[in-house]
Amino acid sequence: MRKEKAPLTDPIGYDSYLNQIKTVCKSRISLNDKLKKICELLKENIPYYDWVGFYFVNKSKRDELILGPFVGEQTEHVRISFGQGICGQVAEQRKTFIIQDVTKETNYLSCSLKVKSEIVVPIFKNRKIIGEIDIDSHSVSPFTNDDKIFLEDVSIVVADLF
Ligand code: SME
Repeated sequence: MRKEKAPLTDPIGYDSYLNQIKTVCKSRISLNDKLKKICELLKENIPYYDWVGFYFVNKSKRDELILGPFVGEQTEHVRISFGQGICGQVAEQRKTFIIQDVTKETNYLSCSLKVKSEIVVPIFKNRKIIGEIDIDSHSVSPFTNDDKIFLEDVSIVVADLF
C-alpha cells in the first residue's frame, strides 16, 4: 500500500487509511478478503502495528471469541473465553483497552515474547458486541488516544459489513 503524504494535523495519516478502508469495504470481494485487506493496510502503514487481527463472537457459543482474518505471526489463541486475557476483558466490559506494557497486566494471554503492548477495540452491531480489532506492538507505550479514536472509527466501518 502506497503511503500518502499526511497533513500536519494528521501526521500518521489516519484519515487517508480510514478512506482506504472504506474503499476496501465497498469493493466486490468476499467478507474475509475485505477483513484481511484491512489488516494488511493497517500493519503495512502504521509502523508500530506488528500484529493486526479480528476476533468474532462465536455465534453458537456466545461467551467465546474466535480468531478471524489476521496478519502477523501465528497465534495459539484461536478461541478466547469472555473474561480471559485482554480480548476476553474487552468482550465483557464492551470498551477499548490500551495496554501500554503487557508485563504489567496480569490477565493477559501472551502470543509472543516480542509483543510489548496491545490495543483491543470492540465492534458493535445493534449495540451488541460482535467482534474486536486486536493490535499487538513490539514497542512499549506506542498507542495514543488518536489510535483509539481511529480504530473505533474503523470498527464502525467494519460493523457495516455485517
Ligand atoms: N494478547 C491477547 C490474546 C490475543 S493475541 O494478542 C493475538 C489477549 O490477552 O487477549
